[in-house]
Amino acid sequence: SFEVKIASSGASFQIPADKTVHQVLSENGIEIMVSCEQGVCGTCLTRVLEGEPDHRDLYLDDHEHAANDQFTPCCSRAKSKTLVLDL
Ligand code: FES
Repeated sequence: SFEVKIASSGASFQIPADKTVHQVLSENGIEIMVSCEQGVCGTCLTRVLEGEPDHRDLYLDDHEHAANDQFTPCCSRAKSKTLVLDL
């Protein structure tokens, strides 16, 4: 698991292996717009302020993945212990 932190509120959530970032945030009243939920459409794209995403999408290109400043919370995860999201 890893932790996701919401920059605006400071709230943080553990993301267990069997749930997506989007699922956990949604359960806690933080709604991110999603569409495909498979990393294809880019609808859920969210800015990352700190931490290293584990990109699982097909939407961003290699260069954008390497920048680590945005990710797709419908399917992508984290390599670092914490991701701080610009939400
Ligand atoms: Fe389509 Fe996340 S909802 S990429």
